[in-house]
Amino acid sequence: MTDLIEALQAPTADRGTGAVRTGTPVSRVDGRAKVTGQAKYAAEHPAPDLAYGVVVSSPAAKGRIVSIDTRAALAVAGVVEVLTHKNRPKIRSFDIAYKDMTAPAGSPFRPLYDDHVMYSGQPLALVVAETFEAARYAASLVTFEIAAEPHGTKLSANLDRAYKPKPLKAGFEPPPDEKGDTDAAFDAAPVKIDAEFYSGVEHHNPMELFASTVIRGEDGHLTIYDKTQSSQNSRWYVSHVFGLSKNKVTVRNTYVGGAFGSGLRPQYQLTLAVMAALHLKRSVRVVLTRQQMFTFGHRPETVQRVKLAAERDGTLRAIWHQAIAETSPIEDYVEVVVNWSGLLYACDNIKLDYKLVKLDQYTPIDMRAPGAAHGVHALEVAMDELAYALKMDPLALRLKNYAERVPIEDKPYSSKELRACYELGAKQFGWDQRPLEPRSRREGTELVGWGMATGVWDAMQMFARASAVLHADGKLVVSSAATDIGTGTYTVMAMIAAEAMGLPLEDVTFQLGDSTLPVAPIEGGSSHVTTVGSAVAGVCEKLQKTLFKHAQKLRGSPFADVKLKDVEFVGGTLRLKHRQEAALPLSAIMNDSGLVKLEEKYLMLPNMLKQRKFRRLVHSAVFVEVRVDEQTGMVRVTRVTSAIAAGRIMNTKTATSQITGGIVWGISQALHEESYADHRLGRFMNHNYAEYHVPVNADIHAMDVIFVEEDDRIVSRLGAKGVGEIGLVGVAAAISNAIWHATGKRLRSTPMTPDKVLGGGP
Ligand code: MOS
Repeated sequence: MTDLIEALQAPTADRGTGAVRTGTPVSRVDGRAKVTGQAKYAAEHPAPDLAYGVVVSSPAAKGRIVSIDTRAALAVAGVVEVLTHKNRPKIRSFDIAYKDMTAPAGSPFRPLYDDHVMYSGQPLALVVAETFEAARYAASLVTFEIAAEPHGTKLSANLDRAYKPKPLKAGFEPPPDEKGDTDAAFDAAPVKIDAEFYSGVEHHNPMELFASTVIRGEDGHLTIYDKTQSSQNSRWYVSHVFGLSKNKVTVRNTYVGGAFGSGLRPQYQLTLAVMAALHLKRSVRVVLTRQQMFTFGHRPETVQRVKLAAERDGTLRAIWHQAIAETSPIEDYVEVVVNWSGLLYACDNIKLDYKLVKLDQYTPIDMRAPGAAHGVHALEVAMDELAYALKMDPLALRLKNYAERVPIEDKPYSSKELRACYELGAKQFGWDQRPLEPRSRREGTELVGWGMATGVWDAMQMFARASAVLHADGKLVVSSAATDIGTGTYTVMAMIAAEAMGLPLEDVTFQLGDSTLPVAPIEGGSSHVTTVGSAVAGVCEKLQKTLFKHAQKLRGSPFADVKLKDVEFVGGTLRLKHRQEAALPLSAIMNDSGLVKLEEKYLMLPNMLKQRKFRRLVHSAVFVEVRVDEQTGMVRVTRVTSAIAAGRIMNTKTATSQITGGIVWGISQALHEESYADHRLGRFMNHNYAEYHVPVNADIHAMDVIFVEEDDRIVSRLGAKGVGEIGLVGVAAAISNAIWHATGKRLRSTPMTPDKVLGGGP
């Protein structure tokens, strides 16, 4: 313990006084605050008048509330109120008020709105008490009489109801039109694969439970600490639902303990906490239980079918990919599942199809690499099957069909170093030592197999604002309403600013997580570095120019007759490039110019005219070794090499941590994770950490991450793309392919649990 504390207190080497450069490993600037408990999360902010709300969830999957008995709960000492749809304060009735910035088409869920029950676990009451314990106990005493109606929660039983969704969601691309004549090409080709895939529901389960602390000021102003991927999205939502003006509500999400997409939309504990605070005119906190973390958005259950056809030399002739996924009765949750199959491999005939089925569930929500996690999985397992049908090495098949231009739309890629990923990954892994035949290696009771897959994800850029304030002492504060869900936003943004201004990292603070800061997009889609990072670079460039002008005006200035391109910001100074001893500390320029502070603001808009001409993607090649125990069906993933092409890497340490986190989740998707429903009750059964399996330390072995060189100035001025999601894509497919190589058994359903490994079919 002492060692740990000493280590935490010691200055880390990479936070020394030297200049910081992007592209180097830098420890998290918020790391110490987090591990010492100083970082406060949404449920940790105190208020003197705080009341505690506990949610009561519906036991029924569908029906009408006939009555709610709150008498026993209200009789508990310390209980202040029990809110239900009968006595809640007024909230707006129009759908539009409930549409947060990422809402899909449909009518968003409204907690405690009326007597409708639309899914099991739906919040039906909020017990508010002086203590959490009183609220929790009283919540157990609330009873309901519900007139149940028949429900349907099973995707496989409802596939005949599949329909094409309307493409109304920001960032969602419906499947493109067919290229060529896929059916004819499939029929004519000599080698074919036709395979069906299944992926179960997953729930994100970040460590931090969903929580909102609403602190009510004397003047009625609400300061809300919310677990969300966007303080501004939650602020917007609360304003609209309750009809509160923008300056009456501030939302903060200074620290977020993981989210993975679950915080892209405001969750119901926020609505309930605000409702109670307005009703009781006091501060209120609502924290969900781990069980209740299974009562909102999730990765949707999906069935897929992939057909591939090729010439005997491996040339792909047809790609056909269909997906049917679940959504809720009220909204069309859409994600990109099949489109990836039109982006990866050269092929003249491609047909893609995506449909939804409405089930009596809460609306699904994006989960890390939404759509690609299972869509690319199906394609990449099918490619492996095709390779075996062709008696070809799986990597050779991919190289044979390597796309130099985007197959489905005949556009160039903005950059694509996937070939380097294949080469470097294969070399590092030792892929050339792999026997082609399955079941060729046994060690003890275990069969050893090697598999690989390709990964792909978008390289997006949104718009953002940033401000920068340089103080007289040379300290810089840069701000944007960005979010750090544990990905390293604080660190990377500070690095970008420090590098631009030539300041040591400890002189730069990046402020985020507050709805009053300059506009930033929701943290999602691996786009924060390209978006907020570019805004930070932009505002620093403005600051450089202004500071340079001030420096030129100083008496006897060495910069009087030079241009901005002739100077550089290095080591806390402004200096001439060709005469480095002519250097002025930034603090001296500020003081001599009589400036207390210098502020700049910047709006970063993506160059869409230029970007539109290119398909902008990140890529990966994943190589995996598994050991399968034939007696128990246990699969161990003993080695993973992931080679990533994601533009310039800004911080190799936090980026590596993103990719290894993604690999761990890929192992989880492959082997562990699924929310199992009891369809008679219409509810998830394993809604806790004991029964919802995720990998633990013992499940994780060697992981190698390689970043191949790529620099993409079309995606962002930084040359960066994004690394939040690509680490996950393809991992489960590589594991499935390695299990085939080890055992000769093809598994097309995730998670690949021991019963499936031992069982006969997929
Ligand atoms: Mo991510 S699933 O875009 O938060």
